[in-house]
Amino acid sequence: MPEILVTENITGDAMDQLRKKMDVSFEPELWSDPDKLREAIKKVKALIVRNQTQVTDDIISAADELQIIARAGAGLDNIDTKAASNAGIVVSSTPQANSVSVAELAIGLMISLARQIPAADWDTRAGGWNRQVFTGGELSGKTLGVVGFGRIGALTATRAKVFGMNVIAHDDYVDPAAAHVKELDASMVSLDELLAEADFITCHVPLTEGTREMFNAELFGKMKASAFFINTSRGEVVDENALARALQNDQIGGAALDVRQVEPPDAASPLNGLTNVILTPHIAAFTKEAQTRVVDAVCRDVQAVLKGNPAIDFFNFAEPQR
Ligand code: MLT
Repeated sequence: MPEILVTENITGDAMDQLRKKMDVSFEPELWSDPDKLREAIKKVKALIVRNQTQVTDDIISAADELQIIARAGAGLDNIDTKAASNAGIVVSSTPQANSVSVAELAIGLMISLARQIPAADWDTRAGGWNRQVFTGGELSGKTLGVVGFGRIGALTATRAKVFGMNVIAHDDYVDPAAAHVKELDASMVSLDELLAEADFITCHVPLTEGTREMFNAELFGKMKASAFFINTSRGEVVDENALARALQNDQIGGAALDVRQVEPPDAASPLNGLTNVILTPHIAAFTKEAQTRVVDAVCRDVQAVLKGNPAIDFFNFAEPQR
């Protein structure tokens, strides 16, 4: 029986080293077969996943010897952390490792929307030279509304400030007196105020039952007709049909989605036919730099826990309790 099970395509130098040193079963497609996963997890001591493996209560209850579930990435929505904690299993993730990359993509998508970069590129390749069409607008002087003002929201805001944007933010869990709120000179506002005032709205909330489909027809209806909406958090926080209708009816100015309600998305998605939306395939965290840090961190923490030492990036507790 292998000690460590990897159920997604998680590669890099640190993983190569881990595979040389320890008994690792590398099964990058196993995430797609829960029955096989249930069988394979029975005797392993560590599980390394990204966001596709659904580590449910049922899977956890089958894992008799599991000591650590290491998530290569930030979001923990695919892991039943309560069931893991109840079973005494450490859950670790790598929120520090990829946040800069996500913030940079959010800014990249904002500029792409403001300057219509993808559309200008397609048009020019097709033989156009339409300098009067692709005029766009500046970020400077505009208001950025950050929904979810944690680490990634704050890093995005820091970069937006450099572009001369005014930052407002909404987050039920952030104290308006928090250091990053002051440093960024951000105003914490209600969600309704943010939707009414922001020229760009960037979403950085985790997926929970409270945030699922929070961006619905009602919220899109409260945005400015010129507003650009950017989502690099979790696709399930957006009702895509409502967004498509808001874009079709020019209720908002445009949107950019790196994450989708279903991944990969349906080829028949109504968003595919719209010109005022930019779509990317959940790549925000997938820079070379971020992925090196992510894989280094999960391999480090798995080895630490299996040697009886604490994980550094632990989510629940550092050492296994079982
Ligand atoms: C994350 O949660 O770290 C990113 O969305 C990338 C991923 O899911 O692996």
